[in-house]
Amino acid sequence: MSLPFFEINGGNRLRGTVRISGAKNAALPIMAASILCEGEVVLRDIPRVADVESLCELLQKLGVETTWIEDNALRLIVRDEMNCKAEYDIVRKMRASICVLGPLIAKRQKAQVSMPGGCAIGDRPVNLHLRAMERLGADLDLVGGDIVARAKKLVGTEMFLGGRFGSTVLGTANAMMAAALADGVTVIEMAACEPEVADLANFLNQCGASISGQGTPRIIVEGVKELHGCEYRIIPDRIEAGTFMVAAALTNGDLKIENVRLDHLMAFVDCLSGVGVHVEKTTLGAEVTSSRRLEPVEVTTQPFPGFPTDLQAQLMTLLCLADGNSVITDKIFPDRFMHVPELARMGAQLRREGGTVIIEGVKRLIGAPVMASDLRASAALVLAGLVARGTTRVNRIYHLARGYERMDEKLRAVGGDIQLHPEGGV
Ligand code: EPU
Repeated sequence: MSLPFFEINGGNRLRGTVRISGAKNAALPIMAASILCEGEVVLRDIPRVADVESLCELLQKLGVETTWIEDNALRLIVRDEMNCKAEYDIVRKMRASICVLGPLIAKRQKAQVSMPGGCAIGDRPVNLHLRAMERLGADLDLVGGDIVARAKKLVGTEMFLGGRFGSTVLGTANAMMAAALADGVTVIEMAACEPEVADLANFLNQCGASISGQGTPRIIVEGVKELHGCEYRIIPDRIEAGTFMVAAALTNGDLKIENVRLDHLMAFVDCLSGVGVHVEKTTLGAEVTSSRRLEPVEVTTQPFPGFPTDLQAQLMTLLCLADGNSVITDKIFPDRFMHVPELARMGAQLRREGGTVIIEGVKRLIGAPVMASDLRASAALVLAGLVARGTTRVNRIYHLARGYERMDEKLRAVGGDIQLHPEGGV
């Protein structure tokens, strides 16, 4: 089979303006929440990425009509509530499919959702999602690899959603969506504080829900009888914005980044400033420039407002060129290091010890054929290609298409020499 690949000739300074798309990780749970609503939901700034298309496919199977009414505007209307089954075929492609669990139980009183398996970034348990559903009164079974849930009526309760690795983003989303239609008040302790969770709460409130505390570790949901539709704009993608910030820094460029919320990127921008990268707030977003000398840093990923795991791989590419030794520890996904051996193929000096990687800065990276493995690791390799001497071929770029909207086009528009070849990759 011959697959598409990117060919990147490194060395160009990136200059110009990039507009950031709506956040994939806010869009997915908000789209799933349409299952809860009576009437039409119109979502603006939905990124046209493969994960969004996969969720549209799943929602259609679940009786939700999904129509693109403009480039990035999606209309969702529930037409049929008979099917409650999310099949393995889609769930295995996209783990975020788990976020139909809460809405299906709350609205249709039953759900059958294939248990997601592990993925390239490690084990990804769903025990906290299940705990939330059980606390709200659902009966759960595991049948043939499917989570089968039933509940006549969900009842508000207190729940603690902390696990070994801290809070859970989609687990909190599932709990909020289910509690929105439960009888009485639900208090979620150790809720995820990520902006995407707050965006979901804000969307649900516009549909008539009564949720407070979003953005803090204690979310309170007062159940309501029914939710209606609404029109809603998704927040900007902080991870895409961070990825372009690294692109500017790596190429000693000057990028204006539009549609970015710096208050969603505080830990990341703070880390960049330690490296010697300047991020200035502008009226439309931010401008990123960097000094020639990059300083090494020590970083640990943490739940929001800490440094996001979804920017760990991209930061590693930047630190490969710092003047000294850096240390990155991923505490959220300690196995999320598939980019390490690929960056090493490009001349990076990296040593992994468990959930930590020690990065010895080198003078330059050298172009090579590399293999993308998961979404953010792929972004890290594209970034490496933009700065490497010579030509880099990034294979398996379908991973990138899952979460970055027109990445190659956006990079070309600011001077990146990156071409998509529809076939010839491995
Ligand atoms: N965890 C549990 N039990 C659970 C759920 C999670 O132990 O029931 C653990 C996980 O294994 C992990 C930690 O808790 O160690 C945090 O996982 P979380 O549940 O927060 O991750 P998620 O909700 O499945 C979302 C994003 C990920 C992002 C993580 C962490 C979406 C669709 N996905 O996943 O995004 O890395 O939060 O911020 O929102 C990506 O976009 O590339 C991506 C992987």
